[in-house]
Amino acid sequence: MSKQRRPLIAGNWKMNGLAGSAAPELQELVKRAGEHSDPACDILICPPATLIDKMAGLAKGSAVKIGGQDCHANESGAHTGDISAEMLKDTGADYCIVGHSERRADHGESNAVVKAKAEAALRAGLTAIVCVGETLAEREGDKTLDVISDQVRNSLPEGATAGNTVIAYEPVWAIGTGKTPTPEDVAVVHAHIRKELGSLMGDSEAVRVLYGGSVKGSNAAELMAVENVDGALVGGASLKASDFWPIVETSI
Ligand code: PGA
Repeated sequence: MSKQRRPLIAGNWKMNGLAGSAAPELQELVKRAGEHSDPACDILICPPATLIDKMAGLAKGSAVKIGGQDCHANESGAHTGDISAEMLKDTGADYCIVGHSERRADHGESNAVVKAKAEAALRAGLTAIVCVGETLAEREGDKTLDVISDQVRNSLPEGATAGNTVIAYEPVWAIGTGKTPTPEDVAVVHAHIRKELGSLMGDSEAVRVLYGGSVKGSNAAELMAVENVDGALVGGASLKASDFWPIVETSI
């Protein structure tokens, strides 16, 4: 963890949560965050779009920020079922995840689509969290760094700065599986991402690069201690405040 980069501990609730069960979890997070007068990290929850308004209301005035999990590239128009970045902002989001591997796989999102969505997030005044990560076959085929380079170079939004863009490295094979890369493997990929960002942005020292994929209370400290890891993107272990909080505690 670098002193010059403020860590971001982000929860991605994916397609989980109804108002009745989600509200107490968010309230518990807000309560625990409130016990820290000067938190040393940013805390984010990305609920399903249906809950953003309610969760943003509950988190208002606290250190807990709210984000979307995806957005359309356009501001408005004939796109049934889609939600624009402006709509997310309007309903209380400050961040938006784009290019999550589940979107890339389930919805066929290419790097070009991810880039357009990231640019939409910036246009709306949201911080974009751009996800990248290799599949197991790519890792076993020794293609990890090539895949990551391709995704970073082609998904990074035009106008990206350390203030408006975060990268999340999430090996696809580590998501929801309980498997994680070794700290050494994480260090190699994060250093590689920072190098790529440097060549694309000039100075990448202040850009936050998160690790995601089976982060939990028991492995978070070890992963957060890896050089160039500036926080976590957490799926399963973000659904309950009691599971998420120990991860936040590694950085707060
Ligand atoms: P996981 O998901 O923590 O459940 O592995 C991470 C993610 O998909 O962001």
